[in-house]
Amino acid sequence: MTKTMNQAVSMKQILDLVRDDLARVEKTIGLETIGSVGAINTISHHMQAAGGKRLRPILLLLSSRLISSSAETTEEAIQLAAVVELIHTSTLVHDDVIDEAEIRRGRPSANALWGNQMSILAGDWLYMQAFQIAMRQRNFNVLDILIGLAQMMVEGELLQLDRLGKIDITEADYMELVDRKTASLFNSCCRLGAMAGGASDAQAARLGDFAWNLGMAFQLVDDILDFTSKEIILGKPVGNDLAEGKVTLPLLYALKETTREETRQIDTILKDRNYDRVPFTTVLEIIEKYNGVEKAHERARHFTDRAREIIEEFPDSPYRKAVLNVADIITDRDR
Ligand code: IPE
Ligand code: IPE
Ligand code: MG
Ligand code: MG
Repeated sequence: MTKTMNQAVSMKQILDLVRDDLARVEKTIGLETIGSVGAINTISHHMQAAGGKRLRPILLLLSSRLISSSAETTEEAIQLAAVVELIHTSTLVHDDVIDEAEIRRGRPSANALWGNQMSILAGDWLYMQAFQIAMRQRNFNVLDILIGLAQMMVEGELLQLDRLGKIDITEADYMELVDRKTASLFNSCCRLGAMAGGASDAQAARLGDFAWNLGMAFQLVDDILDFTSKEIILGKPVGNDLAEGKVTLPLLYALKETTREETRQIDTILKDRNYDRVPFTTVLEIIEKYNGVEKAHERARHFTDRAREIIEEFPDSPYRKAVLNVADIITDRDR
């Protein structure tokens, strides 16, 4: 079987396990994103209907079932799955304002359609709605995780803004951003799922570590795809990160070895924030010359290998197999 076919089969196996639960999550999201102002409904519906991989609720649901012995997913887990997808959605709406992105999930972004002001407010509303749903569980541990998470993510975006356009960011700086903006949310998803499934603190922390490693790999692959994929597959433009002033891992590795002229070319794009003077193909050639993509893939694989080691501490089950499959899909995905 080809890699793509293999992936389709594993994704189907995962979805078979959570299909009914995910339908409940979608229903919850639909019901919970009705505000008394039209703009909220329009923007929320636009985001939900555009699709998205629903990776975060899937991870939460699988973690809950991996821990729980009950044959049914609890309402608590369904609600929390809706919460994490709503938090993810609101960060995307805000992120696209910050990044001035015009395409998201293969459609015009909320900011492209309704402008920055409306998008920021709708994003705020969605954030608060996520907390509102979580509040109903009257569980301080849940709120503790979510509030810490929201602050981590906002701090990540702030740090990223501060580092925009800088060519000399270190691998440690880069990893810190990835940790904050992506891995921390993955971590929270599996911790919350485990808690909803009745896990001990230690088990929840272990599943959180597992997901953190997955999240790191996921963002590294997202950053690789920004160089190697196509807009039609990805649902967002390629070459965007550099034009937004972001030096990501494939380029960061290449920059360790570039000639003075090559470094200057990259710096030109970072200053100009476009490819008018130095084309994107030149960047691809530079990355290719120094194996930036292979090296970044290798680094991503370290994270998924670590995730795999952690998850193997748990007893074998269809749910454990499914989260392992998520790990494979993350490293091999093309969108
Ligand atoms: C996009 O996340 C933001 C990143 C962390 C790279 P996804 O790629 O999971 O976005 P959707 O939900 O599938 O659109
Ligand atoms: C995604 O960062 C992290 C978020 C918290 C939204 P990116 O800026 O790389 O995400 P995309 O590429 O726009 O999806
Ligand atoms: Mg972005
Ligand atoms: Mg990206």
